[in-house]
Amino acid sequence: MENFNNLIIEPNLILSSFKEGDKPLLCQYLNDAELYRNTLMVPNPYTDVDAANWLDLTFKELEEHGHPINWAIRGENDELIGGIGCFLAGGKNYHADEIGYWLAKPLRGKGIMSKVVRSYCNYLFESRPDLARIEAKVFPFNPASVRLLEKIGFEREGYAKKLKQKKGEYLDCVLLACFRDTLLLN
Ligand SMILES: CC(C)(COP(=O)(O)OP(=O)(O)OC[C@H]1O[C@@H](n2cnc3c(N)ncnc32)[C@H](O)[C@@H]1OP(=O)(O)O)[C@@H](O)C(=O)NCCC(=O)NCCS
Repeated sequence: MENFNNLIIEPNLILSSFKEGDKPLLCQYLNDAELYRNTLMVPNPYTDVDAANWLDLTFKELEEHGHPINWAIRGENDELIGGIGCFLAGGKNYHADEIGYWLAKPLRGKGIMSKVVRSYCNYLFESRPDLARIEAKVFPFNPASVRLLEKIGFEREGYAKKLKQKKGEYLDCVLLACFRDTLLLN
């Protein structure tokens, strides 16, 4: 981890801001049935306009906060491979926040997101002294996400029925959370 605008996890695994040139890969990777099924807000099909709106949102966040809230995950040659961010529902000084993340399909199953989520949560705790709790809400049909969170020290807290609603359908969630003293450092 370097400065708060470029988080270096490994030489070829870096979090940075999104940029205009990310549009084609956003469209390529977010047009993914599995990703759509496992997330709440990503449109499907994912169009050029969706990518443009997303980029605008991240540019506004960067301007407002001085650092990204939603980070691009970059691999070899600085290419976009995923995204991670927090919801900031209670504001920056609130004691709790929720995270969301995705990784490009070709790179899944190699342990990449475990490293990214752990480093990102450490960064959140380091940069926000008031933050005591980071939570994630995972659909029960997404065991890879539950496993990765538990692997890095998130605790499974419960099962919330009909917590989310997507296109008229109620969806249950597995609730997980980590705390300063339970997140595994490596
Ligand atoms: C969930 C996601 C981020 C995981 O990324 P990843 O880099 O493949 O995750 P990792 O490889 O670090 O860890 C996944 C773990 O789950 C395990 N796993 C994968 N599929 C699994 C399954 N069907 N059942 C149980 N465990 C599974 C892996 O073996 C690995 O555990 P291990 O290291 O003990 O072997 C990725 O699949 C993704 O982007 N999915 C679509 C979007 C999404 O689901 N976002 C999260 C919403 S909550």
